[in-house]
Amino acid sequence: MANSKYEYVKKFEADDRLPPCNWIVVRIDGCHFHRFSADHEFEKPNDKNALNLMNSCAVSMLEHFPDIVFAYGVSDEYSFVLKETTQFYQRRASKILSLSVSYFTSLYVMKWKEFFPNKELKAPPSFDGRVICYPRGKIIQDYLAWRQVDCHINNQYNTCFWNLVNSGKTEREAQEFLKGTQSKDKNELLFQQFGINYNELPAMFRKGSCVYRDKVEETVKQDKGGNSIKRTRNKVVLAHIDIVGPKFWSEHQYILEEE
Ligand code: GTP
Ligand code: MG
Repeated sequence: MANSKYEYVKKFEADDRLPPCNWIVVRIDGCHFHRFSADHEFEKPNDKNALNLMNSCAVSMLEHFPDIVFAYGVSDEYSFVLKETTQFYQRRASKILSLSVSYFTSLYVMKWKEFFPNKELKAPPSFDGRVICYPRGKIIQDYLAWRQVDCHINNQYNTCFWNLVNSGKTEREAQEFLKGTQSKDKNELLFQQFGINYNELPAMFRKGSCVYRDKVEETVKQDKGGNSIKRTRNKVVLAHIDIVGPKFWSEHQYILEEE
């Protein structure tokens, strides 16, 4: 095809290919979810259905994009980790980012009714996103630990805050009450005043959500004798587990293995 005289405008496009050999993290975050959650009357501090909607979208992301090897979600955010060798869209940052955000947002809208059958979607949800490169798998582990520690700190604070508010304190009083308290004090408060054992709260609230591929044994059929015939399959799984300590990573070394 002949070049038109306008062709030169292409040259203004920036080359935004991410550096090779780096792990890529795409983190998306719900825009104004403070308002979005209030408009849709999400339960405080954690709405199971809202979190499970986010998780279902993340599972679909891994099923759709084989280059995503791990995802971690908490509140209105999700981080997606792409392999350091990925050649997805030639590693172009704007392509990877815009595709992740738009695909996730579409999933969120499509799946809304599944998780909120009796609630109308009142406003179009939107997500912002960023791309970050990390040169080593170990830093990805630290990145994910950072998000999970944040999840813990926020969840413990919010659990105390909303219990205090529900017991009659104003939001300002609850905030003042919690100022300067340590993690231990908050656990004590929950137990003494509200009879809540923090460690017995749902793991999804305390640990956030991890999505990755794992070998899962599945019954495919029964033989004539009624014995189940099992096969191991590589499946996208959702788990609410600790990823700060070394245990998970030593049991799932293939996730962050470098080529
Ligand atoms: P931007 O991200 O800057 O646009 O603002 P944001 O309002 O989304 O705040 P941010 O991302 O910092 O925090 C997420 C907010 O979402 C929380 O502060 C809550 O208000 C809300 N949110 C997230 N998950 C839940 C939930 O399970 N229940 C309720 N009630 N609110 C939630
Ligand atoms: Mg947000």
